[in-house]
Amino acid sequence: MNKVNLPLTVGETGLEEARTVSHSQQTLTHVTTPLDANLTGNVFGGVILAAVDRVAGVSAARHSGGPCVTASFDQVDFRSPISIGEIVTLAASVNYVGRTSMEVGVRVTAEGVLDDQPRHTNSCYVTMVAIDDAGRPRPVPKLILEDATQYRRYIDASARRGARRSLAEARRQRDS
Ligand SMILES: CC(C)(COP(=O)(O)OP(=O)(O)OC[C@H]1O[C@@H](n2cnc3c(N)ncnc32)[C@H](O)[C@@H]1OP(=O)(O)O)[C@@H](O)C(=O)NCCC(=O)NCCS
Repeated sequence: MNKVNLPLTVGETGLEEARTVSHSQQTLTHVTTPLDANLTGNVFGGVILAAVDRVAGVSAARHSGGPCVTASFDQVDFRSPISIGEIVTLAASVNYVGRTSMEVGVRVTAEGVLDDQPRHTNSCYVTMVAIDDAGRPRPVPKLILEDATQYRRYIDASARRGARRSLAEARRQRDS
């Protein structure tokens, strides 16, 4: 990756306002209970997805300064089951901002109460769109990238945005 001067401000609106990634980073912790179980006795995947959506929504609302809706979830792979009684931690960070949309990355880890190390169970990329009072997309502030990790996530998110657009275009052509 080419050397880049940080901090770097990115975004697609004419808004003057810009916010750092750390301004909207969020962590949500959930202790799983039998109410979260699926038929195998582990945690139901939908419980994790709901928590991902919730924490991504808070992060997007903080970055954009108002309400947001979920436009899409990228592919989600569950790498390992989560047992009932484990502590699940979700860390959300805005990776990318477009004109009215934001990609929020959510890293999910799980650990037993007595474990030394959490294990990474999945990562999700959620596109949230900021909306106005009429439910129309509204412009979002730019994003200030302050370190190499934030820059790498931004570059990766740009590639995913390109891939999403290509897929949407391919679907449009197929359906027309
Ligand atoms: C998300 C929503 C507001 C987009 O409205 P729209 O009229 O399609 O808006 P636009 O075409 O102008 O797109 C607005 C932005 O959303 C992005 N977007 C729209 N659909 C998307 C999708 N499926 N995946 C990723 N991004 C998407 C666009 O790329 C654009 O981003 P940009 O402004 O940063 O370039 C609208 O589709 C909606 O309200 N969906 C329902 C959301 C909801 O209820 N979620 C909860 C589910 S229960």
